[in-house]
Amino acid sequence: MDLIEAIKERRSIRAFKPDPIPREKIEDILNLSLLAPSAINLQPWEFIVVSGEEKERLSRSLIKAYREKNISCSPDTVKPLPKMFGKRGAKTLGAMKPFFKEMEADPGQFINEGSCQFYGAPAVILICLDDSFSKARLTDIGIVLGYLVLVAHAVGLGACPIGLITAYEEEIRDMLNIPANKEVVISVALGSPDWTSPITSFKSSREPLDKMVKWVE
Ligand SMILES: Cc1cc2nc3c(=O)[nH]c(=O)nc-3n(C[C@H](O)[C@H](O)[C@H](O)COP(=O)(O)O)c2cc1C
Repeated sequence: MDLIEAIKERRSIRAFKPDPIPREKIEDILNLSLLAPSAINLQPWEFIVVSGEEKERLSRSLIKAYREKNISCSPDTVKPLPKMFGKRGAKTLGAMKPFFKEMEADPGQFINEGSCQFYGAPAVILICLDDSFSKARLTDIGIVLGYLVLVAHAVGLGACPIGLITAYEEEIRDMLNIPANKEVVISVALGSPDWTSPITSFKSSREPLDKMVKWVE
């Protein structure tokens, strides 16, 4: 698939078929993703792939943690968000509303519980960063994440980055025996999109470039 086509078509998938993804296919996706650039070619990312019964166990543990602690998807700000950004989030949720209505789903429950269950995806990829790196290396993790979701789309699968679960890092760490020096930065739900679910057709919009760019000439 043409790269520009993949960039234009890709979307976050929030309903998956349960069909397992062969390990070789996940390896192919990761092998392409790790061609991403990184500072000094440090390739600081570490992947943990969870599937099958272990993925179900992880989902159950996250749902339990979510119901106990009730931490939801949020912009996770360190100070009040400039209005412009808040509006973008609200606009996206607003545009999703008709889809939730069609599914008779509560938006908060669908997104939060759905995220904790990786929207039913058969595989999850956790991307970790060793704590000896500075936060600057989160840039590299973001790049490999971008590659991963695009490659997944290009090979006919669907993906959704899931940041919410990092709020429940303790539970993930316990369940998967992740050492204390590895930070779980982001996870990605991976599988075949369920196109029978209305939410799979949802495509988010973008603000026009002139709101995001300052030309210095
Ligand atoms: C770092 C990051 C964390 C995200 N976390 C979640 C999440 O926890 N749950 C979810 O449903 N979507 C999550 N998303 C998906 C975003 O909501 C999605 O990328 C955004 O709305 C734009 O839509 P698109 O990916 O379909 O273009 C996350 C995306 C990124 C990049």
